[in-house]
Amino acid sequence: MASSSASISLLISLLLGSFMVSTANLYQDLDITWGDGRAKILNNGDLLTLSLDKASGSGFQSKNEYLFGKIDMQLKLVPGNSAGTVTAYYLSSQGSTHDEIDFEFLGNLTGEPYILHTNVFSQGKGNREQQFYLWFDPTADFHTYSILWNPQRIIFSVDGTPIREFKNAESLGVAYPKNQAMRIYSSLWNADDWATQGGRVKTDWTQAPFTASYRNFNASNACVWSSGSSSCSSSSSSSSTSWLSEELDSTSQERLKWVQKNYMIYNYCADTPRFPQGFPPECALNTSS
Ligand SMILES: *[C@@H]1O[C@H](CO)[C@@H](O)[C@H](O)[C@H]1NC(C)=O
Ligand SMILES: *[C@@H]1O[C@H](CO)[C@@H](O)[C@H](O)[C@H]1NC(C)=O
Repeated sequence: MASSSASISLLISLLLGSFMVSTANLYQDLDITWGDGRAKILNNGDLLTLSLDKASGSGFQSKNEYLFGKIDMQLKLVPGNSAGTVTAYYLSSQGSTHDEIDFEFLGNLTGEPYILHTNVFSQGKGNREQQFYLWFDPTADFHTYSILWNPQRIIFSVDGTPIREFKNAESLGVAYPKNQAMRIYSSLWNADDWATQGGRVKTDWTQAPFTASYRNFNASNACVWSSGSSSCSSSSSSSSTSWLSEELDSTSQERLKWVQKNYMIYNYCADTPRFPQGFPPECALNTSS
């Protein structure tokens, strides 16, 4: 009995394993939503490209909605003169009191650094920007951008290095994203009124089309929200949800400090002129200030 049920569960896990490998395919996870042919899924679902020209940008969204997750994707940004372009990659719910967790990549002239802009909205309130330079050229190769979103914290990471932590500050009266399911969205568009060097450098349309590339979307550690229930509340998945209480260990905290010391170029929690009456309450909880 014991050995036959063990072999049956082995068989089931082999079948599930091959099922999961075969669904690691962008056609299964993502929908192109706009851009009239400028967004494409290529190579049998291994690669997605967004492009932008003078007439339009383009975008995609995830098929699923998630309520908490650890979601990774690899991006390779618009190379060369990308000034004026913005590539946004974010989680968002719907409506005027929406929640949102943002990565936005602000392009630049050839050889000048991109800015990685981050923000967190809860119940429609944002204004929580932190901006970074990267420690590599994000246009030369694919790099992994991750969002860990659990009930206690949101951690933004780049190639496994945490760059930002936003802690749940409900105890200080700050709303936290935890009741609204979110989808992944991404878009490439023209924002030359503000994106590059404060809007002074405009998009050079002679360089169009501009193209950003995506691969290896991984939401296998995310709770899919569907018809009012979560895939994580079924007992079968409870063994693989340690990320739901994950926090930064001491090594990761050191790396976060390294990034914030060397690569952070803007932190709303340090912008005294903007908050003359004092910083928003959550700033007291977050390491950087
Ligand atoms: C673009 O390059 C300039 C000059 O190095 C820099 O000041 C700026 O922060 C860079 N990034 C953006 C998005 O403007
Ligand atoms: C997806 O990410 C998880 C960790 O978050 C990892 O264990 C798993 O191997 C990844 N899957 C793929 C196909 O890369």
